[in-house]
Amino acid sequence: MAASADEPLVITDKAEMREWSSSMRRQGRTIGLVPTMGYLHEGHLSLVREARRRGDVVVVSVYVNPGQFAPSEDLSTYPSDFEGDLRKLKAVPGGVEVVFHPHDLYDYGQRQAGDQVGGSGVNSDNVSVSCLEEKGLGHETWVRAERLEKGMCGKSRPVFFRGVATVVTKLFNIVEPDVAVFGKKDYQQWRIIRRLVRDLDFSIQVIGSEVMRDHDGLALSSRNVYLSPEEREKYHLGIVHKQVIVKS
Ligand code: PAF
Repeated sequence: MAASADEPLVITDKAEMREWSSSMRRQGRTIGLVPTMGYLHEGHLSLVREARRRGDVVVVSVYVNPGQFAPSEDLSTYPSDFEGDLRKLKAVPGGVEVVFHPHDLYDYGQRQAGDQVGGSGVNSDNVSVSCLEEKGLGHETWVRAERLEKGMCGKSRPVFFRGVATVVTKLFNIVEPDVAVFGKKDYQQWRIIRRLVRDLDFSIQVIGSEVMRDHDGLALSSRNVYLSPEEREKYHLGIVHKQVIVKS
């Protein structure tokens, strides 16, 4: 499996991703991972540059994870531009070796008679569900940082952090990186990931990269495309705190 940082290899299959990572390890090369949901901006690219400095080869994952979206949130309209993402990654000095872009990471299973999922955003036990459970109940294992997920964004987004922790755990298991880079813009997420690496004994160094800001001072985020000029101003000043725009 050839990899050249000029032209990233796009891998869509978990088994192929594992195989590529194993072959890098056999060659004694360290792997840097940058997990993303795509629609990349300069903030993401700064994480990629950091991963480039820390690992011999770099994998960027692009996957919009249904497990971290509530049914009322923007999973179906989340911005995407995969070709644009590839162009941006190619332009990073040194490039990236692999873009891991799985069609899906979950088994949705078969719906059973009596399965009641989603719609109202809660299941039959009145517990909040994500878009993942709405699609089916083939996946039922979740990673949670029970204390850290509770405050701040966790209050308004009850399924968000368990979805992030679970998908990041899956990505760590599939890619097996030596180093993983996350933005500190999503500070609670970054703390939870550091915690899960410690608590679950992953041998991965988690790096937190500083916040990147736009010309008007607003933190860069893929979801900034949703904002009108007036909303930009308000978000920047911290006047509005709407559930769907708390992070990207
Ligand atoms: O920060 C993000 O873009 C996502 O929450 C992440 C870490 C890629 C998990 O889906």
